[in-house]
Amino acid sequence: MIQFEQTFTNFILHHQEKYNRTYHFIILMDAVISAAKHIQQYYLTGALKGNLGLAGEVNIQGEEVMRMDQIAHEIVVHYLKTSERVIHAVSEEVEGIIPMAEDTGRYFFYFDPLDGSANVSHGLPVGFLFGIAKRNLDGPEDGHLRAGKDYIAAGMFVIPTGMFTLALREAGTWRFHIDETMNFVKPVRMNLPEDPKGWELSFNEANRYTFNENVQKWISENENKYSFRYIGALAGDFHRLLANGGMFMYPAIINHPNPKKNRPLGKLRLMYESAVVSFMCREAGGHAVDETGTPILDLEPAKIHQRTALYVGSTPLVEDISKVLRK
Ligand code: F6P
Repeated sequence: MIQFEQTFTNFILHHQEKYNRTYHFIILMDAVISAAKHIQQYYLTGALKGNLGLAGEVNIQGEEVMRMDQIAHEIVVHYLKTSERVIHAVSEEVEGIIPMAEDTGRYFFYFDPLDGSANVSHGLPVGFLFGIAKRNLDGPEDGHLRAGKDYIAAGMFVIPTGMFTLALREAGTWRFHIDETMNFVKPVRMNLPEDPKGWELSFNEANRYTFNENVQKWISENENKYSFRYIGALAGDFHRLLANGGMFMYPAIINHPNPKKNRPLGKLRLMYESAVVSFMCREAGGHAVDETGTPILDLEPAKIHQRTALYVGSTPLVEDISKVLRK
């Protein structure tokens, strides 16, 4: 018996129909899916083609190596532009905004084309993360940078595993798998498990003694209750967290022995990392806060590459650590 699964295209068409939405979002999602498949193929063959190296390196053919994150950026920009639905985009790879269909576009697209750089040279999981906000349809568009609570969708591809997770505003977080025809199929709604039995903690343990003392204390008091997992690429770590529950954190680094390595504002970027996973987490029943216990989705970005500390995951755990964060 052949087993057939619902495709992503079918899922999203039904979603738009059910909520009486436009086809514009479908066109944008088609661009996103095409970009992800393209990145996936480059990544899978990256080691053979010499694409997993560092920029400035020269491969054995004597050609200059293009960094995989630059390739991924170029791919995403191409598809976004051809969708003609994006007003402007923000990419981790580019300092300023990337103008697209400024007058006729409908969406703002914030993305990190290949997140998790430490994994790239090993071909291990990395992420293509994105958040989408909509043009202000009533009244003039001021190009204002949107907070996570104003996103209409956010998602991530874990490359090259063929897994795709998409959260739709007030319509849940859904996971898809790539099939043998390169279609993303089989939507499964993700809800963080309430039972703490399988919950995990995920953070860079090497940074532990650089955290705020309250956070260190919280870790010491709670770590024995949970397993500990860390891939070192946000998409990979958050992917597992959504299924198992627990908390991923990248706290502010404030007590580093080398003060130059302190990161009082945290490491992760608000618009295309922290807000993206926080949006997906909220739609799966979870919560996320920054170093002051403020919900990540409430943070209004002052600049496009703004950083933030991040505590994201099962609501009881995030609320518990928030109590010590506010002190
Ligand atoms: O911001 C990029 C990133 O690679 C994330 O994907 C990941 O969660 C984090 O940095 C890992 O940082 P570190 O190597 O400091 O643990």
